[in-house]
Amino acid sequence: MSGQARMTLGDKTLDLPVLDGSIGPQVVDIRKLYGQTGAFTYDPGFTSTASCQSAITYIDGDEGTLLHRGYPIDQLAEKSTFLEVAYLLTKGELPTKTQLDEYSYTITRHTMVHEQLLHLYRGFRRDAHPMAIMCGVVGALSAFYHDSTDIDDPHQRMVASHRLIAKMPTIAAMAYKYSIGQPFIYPDNSLSYTGNFLRMTFGVPAEDYVVDPVIERAMDRIFILHADHEQNASTSTVRLAGSSGANPFACIAAGIACLWGPAHGGANEAALNMLREIGTVDRIPEFIARAKDKNDPFRLMGFGHRVYKNYDPRAKVMQQTANEVLAKLGVSDPIFDVARELERIALSDEYFVEKKLYPNVDFYSGIILSAIGFPTSMFTVLFALARTVGWVAQWNEMIGDPEQKIGRPRQLYTGAPRRDYVGIDKR
Ligand code: CMC
Repeated sequence: MSGQARMTLGDKTLDLPVLDGSIGPQVVDIRKLYGQTGAFTYDPGFTSTASCQSAITYIDGDEGTLLHRGYPIDQLAEKSTFLEVAYLLTKGELPTKTQLDEYSYTITRHTMVHEQLLHLYRGFRRDAHPMAIMCGVVGALSAFYHDSTDIDDPHQRMVASHRLIAKMPTIAAMAYKYSIGQPFIYPDNSLSYTGNFLRMTFGVPAEDYVVDPVIERAMDRIFILHADHEQNASTSTVRLAGSSGANPFACIAAGIACLWGPAHGGANEAALNMLREIGTVDRIPEFIARAKDKNDPFRLMGFGHRVYKNYDPRAKVMQQTANEVLAKLGVSDPIFDVARELERIALSDEYFVEKKLYPNVDFYSGIILSAIGFPTSMFTVLFALARTVGWVAQWNEMIGDPEQKIGRPRQLYTGAPRRDYVGIDKR
């Protein structure tokens, strides 16, 4: 605690403790506010509210900084691997070589799913959105892995965490295979986490699948860039669901449902669809004008962020990865030219400059994923796969937090005051 904030409400004066994080803004502790004044605070969208304390991820939106356990995202994207970042996020420190080998071994030994789960897929229509399948199948894991649903047992929590991180690529690849009518491909534990996912997605039983190291590295980097992002909507959903004591599989399914929305994880799909709709560079001004028009609900997808008021550091790495992947695959996608030009025009336009709207992580990711061969409907699934690491880390941190309580916001009631029931014949 570094001081106090004095608040006066009517004839009451209250001194509220001010808390200091290791870095970042001061936080006024209002926990006693209601008890001592009978008043609530009002903060729709939590724009000024810290919902928890966390030691996992730090974002400075004005600087455009993203740190995982203190390490900058660009360093992790360049030098680390997704599984190493998973270790870092879930356990707090970078692993030694032995620790990473053991962790990779454990994760790879959990990649298979219960055979009965395959039947669940067959209950979905072939044209089901893979995110709909993900919500259902991940929630259903709690019906298959009873021995890791006791949240009060640290060992069971750890096993559930490993299972979720390990099985997500299998479940995601199966959602894709089901949608295109191809047989499910079982995991191959001799491959890397990401190589295995690529094989389960693009391999077929009739042929050997050779993992392209450039694509494997690009995909791994995309996973790193999506691994965690502090108290975003889906992570807060996971924490809120978990605060009631719900099992981890149910909590992660709740996170997946939240991620699906176009303002959150669905934006990468929406961004690519938008770029395709724009189609050619000469049509950009028309779309910029629509984005600025107050009477038009259209927004530039992949632009703007609640926290970043500077360039999203993930978008920089993503743009570079897009260059590498397109060069490697020999793809010259006109959509990439549209994206670069749109970014250039938007960043010099007064409206976007004034509102501090910069490209976010989703702006370039769709171009890369599309070049690799993923249909747009799979984009958010890939986000969910990677973000599972963050969800699991944040969920575990919450369960272990002695200050954790069931999440239960209050409200500013604007409905009718008390009134008596009127019989239907008198209405
Ligand atoms: N295009 C045009 N105008 C925009 C955009 C945009 N993409 N984003 C924000 N604005 C305007 C908005 O109209 C508002 O203007 P005014 O103050 O005149 O009413 C102002 O900027 C502030 O917007 P806001 O909606 O109050 O800001 P927010 O923090 O609530 O929303 C956001 C953040 C990400 C939902 C929003 O920027 C957005 O809808 N972006 C497009 C969707 C997108 O790319 N989402 C991915 C986010 S990054 C990945 C993730 O977290 O999942």
